[in-house]
Amino acid sequence: MEHKAREGSPQQPVITAGQPHRLRAGRLIVMSNRAPIRVVREAGKQRIEPTVGGVGTTFLRLLEHQGGLWIAWSGTQKKTPGRLMMPPGSDPPRFEVVFCPLSERDISHYYYGMCNRGLWPLMHFMTANCHFNALNWRYYEAVNRNFAALAAAESADDDVVWVQDFHLALVPRLLREQRPRIPIGLFWHVPFPPEQIFRVFPWRSELLEGMLGADLIGFHTRSYVIQFLNCCERILGLRVDRARDKVATRRGPVQVGVFPLGIPADYFANLAASPRVQERTERIRRALRTPHVVLGVDRLDYTKGILERLLGFERFLEANPAYHRRVTLVLIAVPSRTKVADYAMLKRELDELVGRVIGRFSSEGWVPIRYLYTQFGAEELVAYYQAADVALLTPLRDGMNLVAKEYIAAHLNDDGALILSEFAGAAEELTQALLVNPYDIDAIAARLRQAFEMSPAERAARMRAMRIHVHRNNLEHWSDLFLRALLPERTLAAQASASA
Ligand code: UDP
Ligand code: G6P
Repeated sequence: MEHKAREGSPQQPVITAGQPHRLRAGRLIVMSNRAPIRVVREAGKQRIEPTVGGVGTTFLRLLEHQGGLWIAWSGTQKKTPGRLMMPPGSDPPRFEVVFCPLSERDISHYYYGMCNRGLWPLMHFMTANCHFNALNWRYYEAVNRNFAALAAAESADDDVVWVQDFHLALVPRLLREQRPRIPIGLFWHVPFPPEQIFRVFPWRSELLEGMLGADLIGFHTRSYVIQFLNCCERILGLRVDRARDKVATRRGPVQVGVFPLGIPADYFANLAASPRVQERTERIRRALRTPHVVLGVDRLDYTKGILERLLGFERFLEANPAYHRRVTLVLIAVPSRTKVADYAMLKRELDELVGRVIGRFSSEGWVPIRYLYTQFGAEELVAYYQAADVALLTPLRDGMNLVAKEYIAAHLNDDGALILSEFAGAAEELTQALLVNPYDIDAIAARLRQAFEMSPAERAARMRAMRIHVHRNNLEHWSDLFLRALLPERTLAAQASASA
Protein backbone atom coordinates (compact mmCIF):
# COMPACT_ATOMS: atom_id res chain seq x y z
CA MET A 1 0.00 0.00 0.00
CA GLU A 2 1.36 3.40 -0.85
CA HIS A 3 0.65 6.38 1.33
CA LYS A 4 1.12 9.82 0.01
CA ALA A 5 1.15 12.73 2.42
CA ARG A 6 -1.19 15.51 1.38
CA GLU A 7 0.27 18.90 0.68
CA GLY A 8 -0.18 21.23 3.63
CA SER A 9 -2.63 24.07 2.94
CA PRO A 10 -2.39 27.44 4.64
CA GLN A 11 -3.81 27.57 8.14
CA GLN A 12 -7.38 28.84 8.00
CA PRO A 13 -10.15 29.14 10.50
CA VAL A 14 -11.89 25.82 10.67
CA ILE A 15 -14.91 26.52 12.83
CA THR A 16 -17.96 28.43 11.80
CA ALA A 17 -19.09 30.17 14.94
CA GLY A 18 -22.46 29.04 16.19
CA GLN A 19 -22.77 26.21 13.68
CA PRO A 20 -21.95 22.54 13.84
CA HIS A 21 -18.21 22.16 13.81
CA ARG A 22 -17.10 21.45 10.25
CA LEU A 23 -13.42 21.51 9.47
CA ARG A 24 -12.99 23.95 6.57
CA ALA A 25 -9.25 23.68 6.19
CA GLY A 26 -7.54 20.50 7.12
CA ARG A 27 -9.20 17.16 7.35
CA LEU A 28 -10.57 15.30 10.27
CA ILE A 29 -8.65 12.04 10.56
CA VAL A 30 -10.36 9.52 12.79
CA MET A 31 -8.42 6.49 13.95
CA SER A 32 -9.90 3.40 15.54
CA ASN A 33 -9.21 -0.29 15.66
CA ARG A 34 -12.69 -1.25 14.46
CA ALA A 35 -13.77 0.24 11.14
CA PRO A 36 -17.38 1.40 10.80
CA ILE A 37 -17.94 -0.99 7.92
CA ARG A 38 -16.62 -4.31 6.76
CA VAL A 39 -16.27 -5.69 3.28
CA VAL A 40 -18.04 -9.05 2.94
CA ARG A 41 -17.23 -11.28 -0.02
CA GLU A 42 -19.75 -13.91 -1.05
CA ALA A 43 -20.09 -15.85 -4.28
CA GLY A 44 -17.45 -13.71 -5.95
CA LYS A 45 -19.31 -10.53 -5.03
CA GLN A 46 -18.42 -7.82 -2.59
CA ARG A 47 -20.79 -5.94 -0.32
CA ILE A 48 -20.39 -3.53 2.56
CA GLU A 49 -21.95 -4.05 5.98
CA PRO A 50 -21.87 -1.81 9.06
CA THR A 51 -20.09 -3.14 12.17
CA VAL A 52 -21.54 -3.09 15.70
CA GLY A 53 -20.25 -1.11 18.66
CA GLY A 54 -20.35 2.40 19.99
CA VAL A 55 -17.27 3.70 18.16
CA GLY A 56 -18.32 2.44 14.73
CA THR A 57 -21.91 3.66 14.83
CA THR A 58 -20.89 7.02 16.28
CA PHE A 59 -18.22 8.03 13.83
CA LEU A 60 -19.92 6.57 10.80
CA ARG A 61 -22.66 9.17 11.16
CA LEU A 62 -20.18 11.90 12.06
CA LEU A 63 -17.96 11.37 9.03
CA GLU A 64 -20.96 10.95 6.74
CA HIS A 65 -21.93 14.41 7.93
CA GLN A 66 -18.65 16.25 7.79
CA GLY A 67 -16.30 14.17 5.65
CA GLY A 68 -12.71 13.22 6.36
CA LEU A 69 -10.52 10.17 6.58
CA TRP A 70 -10.84 7.10 8.77
CA ILE A 71 -7.89 4.84 9.52
CA ALA A 72 -8.86 1.44 10.93
CA TRP A 73 -8.32 -2.28 10.72
CA SER A 74 -10.40 -4.00 8.06
CA GLY A 75 -11.66 -6.55 10.61
CA THR A 76 -10.16 -9.48 8.74
CA GLN A 77 -6.78 -10.94 7.95
CA LYS A 78 -7.84 -11.48 4.36
CA LYS A 79 -6.60 -9.08 1.78
CA THR A 80 -8.87 -6.08 1.66
CA PRO A 81 -8.62 -3.04 -0.54
CA GLY A 82 -6.33 -0.54 1.15
CA ARG A 83 -8.65 2.36 0.55
CA LEU A 84 -12.40 2.78 0.17
CA MET A 85 -14.48 5.75 -0.82
CA MET A 86 -17.69 5.94 1.19
CA PRO A 87 -20.48 5.43 0.51
CA PRO A 88 -19.32 3.12 -2.29
CA GLY A 89 -20.02 4.53 -5.73
CA SER A 90 -20.82 8.04 -4.46
CA ASP A 91 -19.49 11.04 -6.34
CA PRO A 92 -18.10 12.96 -4.58
CA PRO A 93 -17.48 10.53 -1.71
CA ARG A 94 -18.55 11.60 1.79
CA PHE A 95 -15.41 10.24 3.40
CA GLU A 96 -12.54 7.87 2.86
CA VAL A 97 -11.44 4.77 4.77
CA VAL A 98 -7.82 3.62 4.79
CA PHE A 99 -7.30 0.15 6.21
CA CYS A 100 -4.34 -0.68 8.41
CA PRO A 101 -3.52 -4.31 7.62
CA LEU A 102 -3.13 -6.75 10.52
CA SER A 103 -1.47 -10.14 10.14
CA GLU A 104 -2.87 -13.31 11.71
CA ARG A 105 -0.36 -12.94 14.56
CA ASP A 106 -1.26 -9.26 15.05
CA ILE A 107 -4.91 -10.23 15.39
CA SER A 108 -4.11 -13.01 17.80
CA HIS A 109 -1.66 -11.11 20.05
CA TYR A 110 -2.66 -7.47 19.70
CA TYR A 111 -6.45 -7.67 19.23
CA TYR A 112 -7.46 -10.83 21.06
CA GLY A 113 -4.50 -11.08 23.45
CA MET A 114 -3.78 -7.55 24.62
CA CYS A 115 -6.97 -5.63 23.73
CA ASN A 116 -9.67 -8.15 24.53
CA ARG A 117 -8.09 -10.35 27.20
CA GLY A 118 -5.99 -7.64 28.85
CA LEU A 119 -7.10 -4.05 28.48
CA TRP A 120 -10.85 -4.59 28.08
CA PRO A 121 -11.35 -6.34 31.46
CA LEU A 122 -8.79 -4.03 33.11
CA MET A 123 -10.67 -0.93 32.00
CA HIS A 124 -13.94 -2.45 33.25
CA PHE A 125 -12.42 -3.11 36.71
CA MET A 126 -12.60 -6.89 36.13
CA THR A 127 -9.12 -8.00 37.07
CA ALA A 128 -10.20 -11.65 37.42
CA ASN A 129 -10.71 -11.72 33.62
CA CYS A 130 -7.32 -10.11 32.87
CA HIS A 131 -4.58 -12.06 31.12
CA PHE A 132 -1.31 -10.25 30.54
CA ASN A 133 1.76 -11.45 28.68
CA ALA A 134 4.82 -9.74 27.30
CA LEU A 135 4.48 -11.07 23.76
CA ASN A 136 0.99 -9.61 23.49
CA TRP A 137 2.32 -6.29 24.71
CA ARG A 138 5.09 -6.32 22.07
CA TYR A 139 2.47 -6.87 19.38
CA TYR A 140 0.31 -4.13 20.85
CA GLU A 141 3.26 -1.72 20.60
CA ALA A 142 4.07 -2.83 17.05
CA VAL A 143 0.50 -2.46 15.80
CA ASN A 144 0.20 0.95 17.45
CA ARG A 145 3.44 1.92 15.70
CA ASN A 146 2.00 0.82 12.33
CA PHE A 147 -1.18 2.83 12.91
CA ALA A 148 0.90 5.88 13.87
CA ALA A 149 3.10 5.54 10.77
CA LEU A 150 0.03 5.31 8.57
CA ALA A 151 -1.45 8.42 10.18
CA ALA A 152 1.84 10.30 9.77
CA ALA A 153 1.94 9.41 6.09
CA GLU A 154 -1.69 10.34 5.48
CA SER A 155 -1.78 13.64 7.36
CA ALA A 156 -0.70 17.21 6.86
CA ASP A 157 0.00 19.61 9.73
CA ASP A 158 -3.32 21.43 9.32
CA ASP A 159 -5.25 18.18 9.71
CA VAL A 160 -6.65 17.07 13.03
CA VAL A 161 -6.14 13.53 14.28
CA TRP A 162 -8.76 12.09 16.57
CA VAL A 163 -7.73 8.73 18.05
CA GLN A 164 -10.42 6.46 19.48
CA ASP A 165 -10.26 4.10 22.39
CA PHE A 166 -7.99 1.78 24.29
CA HIS A 167 -6.74 -0.22 21.29
CA LEU A 168 -4.63 2.72 20.14
CA ALA A 169 -3.44 4.19 23.45
CA LEU A 170 0.18 4.50 22.27
CA VAL A 171 -0.66 6.18 18.97
CA PRO A 172 -0.74 9.76 20.35
CA ARG A 173 2.87 9.56 21.58
CA LEU A 174 4.13 7.64 18.56
CA LEU A 175 2.46 10.00 16.11
CA ARG A 176 3.64 13.05 18.06
CA GLU A 177 7.26 11.90 17.54
CA GLN A 178 6.73 12.05 13.81
CA ARG A 179 4.40 15.06 13.62
CA PRO A 180 5.19 17.38 16.52
CA ARG A 181 2.73 20.10 15.46
CA ILE A 182 -0.40 18.24 14.47
CA PRO A 183 -3.34 18.53 16.90
CA ILE A 184 -4.07 15.11 18.41
CA GLY A 185 -7.16 14.25 20.42
CA LEU A 186 -7.80 10.95 22.17
CA PHE A 187 -11.23 9.80 23.24
CA TRP A 188 -11.50 6.91 25.68
CA HIS A 189 -14.79 5.11 25.02
CA VAL A 190 -14.47 2.68 27.92
CA PRO A 191 -14.32 3.45 31.66
CA PHE A 192 -10.99 4.31 33.28
CA PRO A 193 -10.39 2.29 36.45
CA PRO A 194 -9.31 3.51 39.88
CA GLU A 195 -5.56 3.72 40.41
CA GLN A 196 -5.38 0.60 42.61
CA ILE A 197 -6.90 -1.45 39.78
CA PHE A 198 -4.92 0.19 36.99
CA ARG A 199 -1.71 -0.51 38.90
CA VAL A 200 -1.98 -4.26 38.23
CA PHE A 201 -1.16 -3.59 34.56
CA PRO A 202 2.53 -4.45 33.98
CA TRP A 203 2.94 -1.71 31.32
CA ARG A 204 0.99 0.91 33.23
CA SER A 205 3.58 3.70 32.76
CA GLU A 206 4.03 3.05 29.05
CA LEU A 207 0.29 3.12 28.49
CA LEU A 208 -0.18 6.42 30.32
CA GLU A 209 2.81 7.98 28.54
CA GLY A 210 1.39 6.87 25.21
CA MET A 211 -1.94 8.54 25.95
CA LEU A 212 -0.20 11.72 27.09
CA GLY A 213 1.15 12.30 23.57
CA ALA A 214 -2.31 13.78 22.85
CA ASP A 215 -3.19 17.46 23.35
CA LEU A 216 -6.61 16.56 24.69
CA ILE A 217 -7.86 13.34 26.31
CA GLY A 218 -11.61 12.91 26.68
CA PHE A 219 -13.62 10.59 28.95
CA HIS A 220 -17.36 10.06 29.33
CA THR A 221 -17.62 10.93 33.03
CA ARG A 222 -15.99 12.97 35.78
CA SER A 223 -15.05 9.86 37.78
CA TYR A 224 -13.03 8.44 34.85
CA VAL A 225 -11.21 11.78 34.59
CA ILE A 226 -10.41 11.79 38.30
CA GLN A 227 -9.16 8.22 38.13
CA PHE A 228 -6.96 8.98 35.14
CA LEU A 229 -5.51 12.08 36.83
CA ASN A 230 -4.77 10.06 39.96
CA CYS A 231 -2.84 7.54 37.86
CA CYS A 232 -0.81 10.27 36.13
CA GLU A 233 0.08 11.78 39.48
CA ARG A 234 0.74 8.64 41.51
CA ILE A 235 2.14 6.27 38.89
CA LEU A 236 4.04 8.68 36.64
CA GLY A 237 4.74 11.23 39.37
CA LEU A 238 3.49 14.09 37.17
CA ARG A 239 2.07 17.36 38.43
CA VAL A 240 -1.70 17.49 38.02
CA ASP A 241 -3.83 20.63 38.08
CA ARG A 242 -7.17 19.35 39.36
CA ALA A 243 -8.93 22.70 39.05
CA ARG A 244 -8.21 22.82 35.31
CA ASP A 245 -7.90 19.08 34.59
CA LYS A 246 -4.38 19.45 33.20
CA VAL A 247 -1.37 17.14 33.43
CA ALA A 248 2.09 18.72 33.25
CA THR A 249 4.34 16.70 30.92
CA ARG A 250 7.85 17.43 29.64
CA ARG A 251 6.31 18.51 26.35
CA GLY A 252 3.84 20.86 28.04
CA PRO A 253 0.38 20.62 29.61
CA VAL A 254 -2.08 17.98 28.42
CA GLN A 255 -5.73 18.86 28.78
CA VAL A 256 -8.12 16.21 30.11
CA GLY A 257 -11.91 16.61 30.03
CA VAL A 258 -15.39 15.15 30.43
CA PHE A 259 -17.24 14.74 27.12
CA PRO A 260 -20.23 12.41 27.52
CA LEU A 261 -20.80 10.82 24.13
CA GLY A 262 -24.13 11.62 22.49
CA ILE A 263 -26.11 9.86 19.76
CA PRO A 264 -27.42 11.20 16.44
CA ALA A 265 -30.79 11.70 18.11
CA ASP A 266 -32.61 13.10 15.06
CA TYR A 267 -31.51 10.13 13.01
CA PHE A 268 -33.10 7.76 15.53
CA ALA A 269 -36.21 9.92 15.93
CA ASN A 270 -36.68 10.09 12.14
CA LEU A 271 -36.32 6.34 11.85
CA ALA A 272 -38.86 5.91 14.63
CA ALA A 273 -41.30 8.19 12.80
CA SER A 274 -40.99 6.41 9.47
CA PRO A 275 -44.05 4.35 8.43
CA ARG A 276 -41.82 1.39 7.55
CA VAL A 277 -40.37 1.19 11.05
CA GLN A 278 -43.78 1.73 12.65
CA GLU A 279 -45.17 -1.12 10.62
CA ARG A 280 -42.32 -3.33 11.85
CA THR A 281 -42.99 -2.24 15.41
CA GLU A 282 -46.60 -3.34 15.03
CA ARG A 283 -45.52 -6.66 13.55
CA ILE A 284 -43.17 -7.29 16.48
CA ARG A 285 -45.85 -6.47 19.05
CA ARG A 286 -48.40 -8.67 17.34
CA ALA A 287 -45.94 -11.56 17.21
CA LEU A 288 -45.05 -11.24 20.89
CA ARG A 289 -48.69 -11.16 21.98
CA THR A 290 -48.12 -9.91 25.55
CA PRO A 291 -49.19 -6.48 26.82
CA HIS A 292 -45.70 -5.87 28.26
CA VAL A 293 -42.42 -6.15 26.38
CA VAL A 294 -39.05 -5.76 28.12
CA LEU A 295 -35.98 -5.30 25.94
CA GLY A 296 -32.26 -5.86 26.45
CA VAL A 297 -29.75 -5.14 23.64
CA ASP A 298 -25.99 -5.64 23.88
CA ARG A 299 -22.99 -7.27 22.33
CA LEU A 300 -22.69 -10.60 24.09
CA ASP A 301 -20.09 -9.40 26.59
CA TYR A 302 -19.48 -10.28 30.25
CA THR A 303 -19.38 -6.58 31.16
CA LYS A 304 -23.01 -6.14 30.08
CA GLY A 305 -24.62 -8.01 32.98
CA ILE A 306 -26.79 -10.16 30.70
CA LEU A 307 -26.90 -13.09 33.14
CA GLU A 308 -27.82 -10.74 35.99
CA ARG A 309 -30.63 -9.32 33.85
CA LEU A 310 -32.02 -12.79 33.27
CA LEU A 311 -31.75 -13.69 36.94
CA GLY A 312 -33.59 -10.47 37.79
CA PHE A 313 -36.32 -11.33 35.29
CA GLU A 314 -36.58 -14.85 36.69
CA ARG A 315 -36.91 -13.40 40.20
CA PHE A 316 -39.62 -11.05 38.94
CA LEU A 317 -41.62 -13.96 37.48
CA GLU A 318 -41.21 -15.94 40.71
CA ALA A 319 -42.48 -13.06 42.81
CA ASN A 320 -45.26 -11.86 40.47
CA PRO A 321 -47.39 -14.69 39.12
CA ALA A 322 -50.00 -12.11 38.06
CA TYR A 323 -47.59 -11.09 35.30
CA HIS A 324 -47.27 -14.58 33.85
CA ARG A 325 -48.52 -14.66 30.25
CA ARG A 326 -48.47 -10.86 30.25
CA VAL A 327 -44.79 -10.09 29.73
CA THR A 328 -42.04 -11.06 27.28
CA LEU A 329 -38.35 -10.36 27.67
CA VAL A 330 -36.70 -9.81 24.28
CA LEU A 331 -32.99 -10.42 24.58
CA ILE A 332 -30.91 -9.24 21.64
CA ALA A 333 -27.34 -10.48 22.03
CA VAL A 334 -24.95 -9.58 19.24
CA PRO A 335 -22.11 -12.08 18.63
CA SER A 336 -18.85 -10.45 19.73
CA ARG A 337 -15.20 -11.54 20.19
CA THR A 338 -16.33 -15.16 19.92
CA LYS A 339 -12.76 -16.50 19.82
CA VAL A 340 -12.06 -15.31 23.37
CA ALA A 341 -12.68 -18.10 25.91
CA ASP A 342 -14.54 -15.88 28.40
CA TYR A 343 -17.00 -14.88 25.69
CA ALA A 344 -17.56 -18.45 24.55
CA MET A 345 -18.17 -19.47 28.16
CA LEU A 346 -20.65 -16.65 28.67
CA LYS A 347 -22.52 -17.79 25.56
CA ARG A 348 -22.87 -21.29 27.01
CA GLU A 349 -24.01 -19.95 30.38
CA LEU A 350 -26.51 -17.67 28.72
CA ASP A 351 -27.93 -20.44 26.53
CA GLU A 352 -28.35 -22.57 29.62
CA LEU A 353 -29.97 -19.87 31.71
CA VAL A 354 -32.37 -18.84 28.95
CA GLY A 355 -33.34 -22.50 28.56
CA ARG A 356 -33.89 -22.84 32.29
CA VAL A 357 -36.16 -19.81 32.60
CA ILE A 358 -38.14 -20.73 29.49
CA GLY A 359 -38.51 -24.31 30.67
CA ARG A 360 -39.57 -23.20 34.12
CA PHE A 361 -42.22 -20.61 33.25
CA SER A 362 -43.54 -21.23 29.72
CA SER A 363 -47.13 -22.31 29.44
CA GLU A 364 -49.39 -23.00 26.49
CA GLY A 365 -49.12 -20.09 24.11
CA TRP A 366 -46.61 -18.12 26.22
CA VAL A 367 -42.83 -18.15 26.07
CA PRO A 368 -41.43 -15.57 28.51
CA ILE A 369 -38.15 -14.95 26.66
CA ARG A 370 -37.32 -14.34 23.01
CA TYR A 371 -33.59 -14.76 22.63
CA LEU A 372 -32.10 -13.36 19.44
CA TYR A 373 -28.40 -14.10 18.97
CA THR A 374 -27.84 -11.87 15.98
CA GLN A 375 -26.98 -8.39 14.78
CA PHE A 376 -29.69 -6.02 13.59
CA GLY A 377 -29.53 -2.95 11.42
CA ALA A 378 -30.72 0.41 12.75
CA GLU A 379 -34.28 0.13 11.36
CA GLU A 380 -34.96 -3.23 12.93
CA LEU A 381 -33.36 -2.13 16.17
CA VAL A 382 -35.51 1.00 16.38
CA ALA A 383 -38.61 -1.12 15.76
CA TYR A 384 -37.62 -3.24 18.78
CA TYR A 385 -36.94 -0.11 20.83
CA GLN A 386 -40.42 1.15 20.01
CA ALA A 387 -42.08 -2.17 20.64
CA ALA A 388 -40.67 -2.33 24.17
CA ASP A 389 -42.48 -0.54 26.97
CA VAL A 390 -39.45 -1.16 29.18
CA ALA A 391 -35.72 -1.26 28.37
CA LEU A 392 -33.69 -3.23 30.91
CA LEU A 393 -29.98 -2.42 30.59
CA THR A 394 -27.86 -3.84 33.37
CA PRO A 395 -24.13 -3.55 32.58
CA LEU A 396 -21.82 -4.39 35.45
CA ARG A 397 -19.62 -1.61 34.10
CA ASP A 398 -19.99 0.36 30.85
CA GLY A 399 -18.17 3.41 29.50
CA MET A 400 -21.42 5.01 28.34
CA ASN A 401 -24.11 2.66 26.89
CA LEU A 402 -25.52 4.21 23.75
CA VAL A 403 -28.40 1.76 23.55
CA ALA A 404 -29.98 3.55 26.54
CA LYS A 405 -29.93 6.85 24.66
CA GLU A 406 -31.15 5.31 21.41
CA TYR A 407 -34.09 3.71 23.22
CA ILE A 408 -35.11 7.11 24.57
CA ALA A 409 -34.78 8.86 21.20
CA ALA A 410 -36.96 6.18 19.58
CA HIS A 411 -39.89 6.78 21.97
CA LEU A 412 -41.34 9.82 20.31
CA ASN A 413 -44.43 9.80 22.53
CA ASP A 414 -42.49 9.35 25.78
CA ASP A 415 -44.26 6.05 26.31
CA GLY A 416 -41.33 3.97 27.52
CA ALA A 417 -39.44 3.29 30.73
CA LEU A 418 -35.70 2.86 31.14
CA ILE A 419 -34.17 0.67 33.84
CA LEU A 420 -30.46 1.39 33.78
CA SER A 421 -27.46 0.13 35.71
CA GLU A 422 -25.93 2.73 37.97
CA PHE A 423 -22.54 1.51 36.66
CA ALA A 424 -23.13 2.69 33.09
CA GLY A 425 -21.62 6.07 32.21
CA ALA A 426 -25.06 7.02 30.87
CA ALA A 427 -26.48 6.83 34.41
CA GLU A 428 -24.65 10.05 35.31
CA GLU A 429 -26.69 11.90 32.68
CA LEU A 430 -29.96 9.95 32.52
CA THR A 431 -30.91 10.59 36.10
CA GLN A 432 -34.63 10.18 35.34
CA ALA A 433 -34.08 6.51 34.56
CA LEU A 434 -34.93 3.85 37.13
CA LEU A 435 -31.37 3.24 38.28
CA VAL A 436 -30.45 -0.18 39.56
CA ASN A 437 -27.49 -2.05 41.01
CA PRO A 438 -27.16 -5.01 38.62
CA TYR A 439 -25.51 -7.15 41.30
CA ASP A 440 -28.75 -6.92 43.30
CA ILE A 441 -31.13 -9.41 41.66
CA ASP A 442 -34.05 -8.48 43.95
CA ALA A 443 -33.60 -4.83 43.03
CA ILE A 444 -33.84 -5.67 39.30
CA ALA A 445 -37.08 -7.57 39.95
CA ALA A 446 -38.45 -4.66 42.00
CA ARG A 447 -37.50 -2.14 39.31
CA LEU A 448 -39.36 -4.19 36.69
CA ARG A 449 -42.50 -4.08 38.73
CA GLN A 450 -42.08 -0.38 39.36
CA ALA A 451 -41.67 0.23 35.62
CA PHE A 452 -44.88 -1.66 34.79
CA GLU A 453 -46.90 0.00 37.52
CA MET A 454 -45.70 3.56 37.12
CA SER A 455 -48.45 6.01 36.19
CA PRO A 456 -48.52 7.10 32.53
CA ALA A 457 -47.88 10.66 33.71
CA GLU A 458 -44.72 9.70 35.59
CA ARG A 459 -43.48 7.59 32.68
CA ALA A 460 -43.99 10.46 30.28
CA ALA A 461 -42.37 13.02 32.58
CA ARG A 462 -39.25 10.88 33.04
CA MET A 463 -38.96 10.02 29.36
CA ARG A 464 -39.55 13.59 28.24
CA ALA A 465 -36.79 14.93 30.47
CA MET A 466 -34.37 12.31 29.16
CA ARG A 467 -35.43 12.81 25.53
CA ILE A 468 -34.75 16.53 25.79
CA HIS A 469 -31.34 15.77 27.26
CA VAL A 470 -30.48 13.24 24.54
CA HIS A 471 -31.44 15.70 21.79
CA ARG A 472 -29.58 18.63 23.35
CA ASN A 473 -26.46 16.64 24.06
CA ASN A 474 -26.43 14.80 20.78
CA LEU A 475 -23.54 13.46 18.75
CA GLU A 476 -22.93 16.70 16.87
CA HIS A 477 -22.87 18.62 20.15
CA TRP A 478 -20.35 16.15 21.55
CA SER A 479 -17.97 16.32 18.60
CA ASP A 480 -18.32 20.08 18.50
CA LEU A 481 -17.37 20.37 22.18
CA PHE A 482 -14.43 18.05 21.79
CA LEU A 483 -13.04 19.68 18.64
CA ARG A 484 -13.48 23.17 20.06
CA ALA A 485 -11.55 22.13 23.15
CA LEU A 486 -8.85 20.57 20.97
CA LEU A 487 -8.54 23.53 18.63
CA PRO A 488 -9.18 26.65 20.71
CA GLU A 489 -6.97 28.92 18.55
CA ARG A 490 -8.81 27.95 15.43
CA THR A 491 -12.12 28.56 17.19
CA LEU A 492 -11.03 32.06 18.17
CA ALA A 493 -9.80 32.79 14.66
CA ALA A 494 -13.10 31.62 13.20
CA GLN A 495 -15.10 33.75 15.61
CA ALA A 496 -12.95 36.77 14.79
CA SER A 497 -13.42 36.29 11.05
CA ALA A 498 -17.17 35.72 11.48
CA SER A 499 -17.62 38.96 13.41
CA ALA A 500 -15.32 41.02 11.10
N1 UDP B 1 -26.20 -2.13 17.62
C1 UDP B 1 -26.48 -2.46 16.31
N2 UDP B 1 -27.12 -3.64 16.06
C2 UDP B 1 -27.48 -4.50 17.04
C3 UDP B 1 -27.19 -4.15 18.37
C4 UDP B 1 -26.54 -2.96 18.63
O1 UDP B 1 -26.18 -1.70 15.40
O2 UDP B 1 -28.05 -5.54 16.74
C5 UDP B 1 -25.52 -0.84 17.91
C6 UDP B 1 -26.38 0.07 18.77
O3 UDP B 1 -27.27 0.79 17.94
C7 UDP B 1 -25.34 0.94 19.47
C8 UDP B 1 -24.08 0.08 19.48
O4 UDP B 1 -24.34 -1.05 18.65
O5 UDP B 1 -25.10 2.13 18.74
C9 UDP B 1 -23.75 -0.43 20.87
O6 UDP B 1 -23.20 0.63 21.61
P1 UDP B 1 -23.15 0.60 23.19
O7 UDP B 1 -22.49 1.86 23.63
O8 UDP B 1 -24.50 0.36 23.77
O9 UDP B 1 -22.27 -0.68 23.57
P2 UDP B 1 -20.83 -1.20 23.04
O10 UDP B 1 -21.15 -2.32 22.11
O11 UDP B 1 -20.16 -0.04 22.37
O12 UDP B 1 -20.13 -1.67 24.25
C1 G6P C 1 -16.72 -1.24 22.56
C2 G6P C 1 -15.36 -0.60 22.37
C3 G6P C 1 -15.14 -0.31 20.89
C4 G6P C 1 -15.32 -1.59 20.08
C5 G6P C 1 -16.70 -2.19 20.35
C6 G6P C 1 -16.93 -3.51 19.62
O1 G6P C 1 -17.69 -0.33 22.22
O2 G6P C 1 -15.28 0.59 23.13
O3 G6P C 1 -13.85 0.22 20.67
O4 G6P C 1 -15.16 -1.36 18.71
O5 G6P C 1 -16.84 -2.41 21.74
O6 G6P C 1 -15.93 -4.44 19.94
P1 G6P C 1 -14.95 -5.07 18.86
O7 G6P C 1 -13.92 -5.81 19.64
O8 G6P C 1 -15.81 -5.96 18.02
O9 G6P C 1 -14.37 -3.96 18.05
